[in-house]
Amino acid sequence: MIQPCGVRLAGTGSAVPDTRLTNHDLARILDTSDEWITQRTGIRERRISAGTRDPVFNLSCRAGQHALDMAGVKASDIDLVILGTVSGEMLCPSTSCRVAAALGATPAGAFDLTAACCGFVYSMNVADSIIRAGRAKRVLAIGCDAISSVVDYTDRTVSILFGDAAGAVVLERCDDPAKGCRYQTMSADGADWHHLYMPYRPDIVPECDRTNPIRLGNLRMNGREVYKFAVNRFREVIEDAFRKTGLTVDDVSQIICHQSNARIIESAIEKLNLPREKVLINIDRYGNTSAGSVGLCLDELNRAGKIPDGKPFVMVAFGGGLTWASCVWDT
Ligand code: ACO
Repeated sequence: MIQPCGVRLAGTGSAVPDTRLTNHDLARILDTSDEWITQRTGIRERRISAGTRDPVFNLSCRAGQHALDMAGVKASDIDLVILGTVSGEMLCPSTSCRVAAALGATPAGAFDLTAACCGFVYSMNVADSIIRAGRAKRVLAIGCDAISSVVDYTDRTVSILFGDAAGAVVLERCDDPAKGCRYQTMSADGADWHHLYMPYRPDIVPECDRTNPIRLGNLRMNGREVYKFAVNRFREVIEDAFRKTGLTVDDVSQIICHQSNARIIESAIEKLNLPREKVLINIDRYGNTSAGSVGLCLDELNRAGKIPDGKPFVMVAFGGGLTWASCVWDT
């Protein structure tokens, strides 16, 4: 018999590498310019893990420790570590196993979750469901990518977009069933996978990219197609979250969007008439950090006092898969 419970957001954390890569730096090695990148994406600089060993492991550990510190929770009290990532150093072992061990959470369960830029929102949704099912009391959910380690810096169409970051939350079981995830979606359509992928074997490269020189293990993206998918889907996912919960934009503190491209977020703001102060855009400072982005925003907002108790917030993301996801969270 499962006892009804709620889930408390006990702490948030984030981490980015120290090294800044500005648009001007990129313009020195690529046929691009600060003006082109800023106008098309809103990005001015990003953080990259240049020369750092194990970037996903390291960023995840740092973000996870910050979240534990804010929660006042010892790592040994964590039952499960979920790490949303597509750029972990190894498939086996999962990066989450090493993160759990380094933080001192052993023998907590640990697994990596692959949902590209939706990694953090998927992880938080799964963590909430596991806690409500009575299978864990405290979960450390992390979203982290070091896309700089899987980007071909001779490819100007992809490399200008991405940066590295991690965001983390400590979620814990509480008695108030009104706290935690009120509504969530996790969706995918694998038919269009070839618009955004990271091939590890030549035989998986689709016909359309066969003539296009590709470095195995690097991210390949058809930006125009991803843009078309994202710009419509983003709006639909936000509308769906409001429609299904009966909430209005006045009821929520923040709508936290995956930072894919400032134009995609601006389009949603305009079409849905969202108040600017409720939609953080930090892509200018960090670029698209894939699974790191939503958790990074959540931590920035939380530390700025913009995630108040008693007011729900919304998270939305889309990414490779193609995947898309939402979460309406009651604080
Ligand atoms: N600098 C200068 N010129 C460039 C660059 C560059 N870095 N990149 C492309 N161009 C050129 C192209 O060659 C093209 O030239 P042409 O007109 O002579 O052929 C022109 O600029 C326009 O190219 P487009 O690809 O049409 O540019 P677009 O306006 O679509 O912007 C971008 C490209 C920024 C990549 C955009 O498509 C985008 O943001 N897409 C979404 C990407 C995304 O959000 N991915 C998220 C998921 S990531 C994940 O899940 C891991």
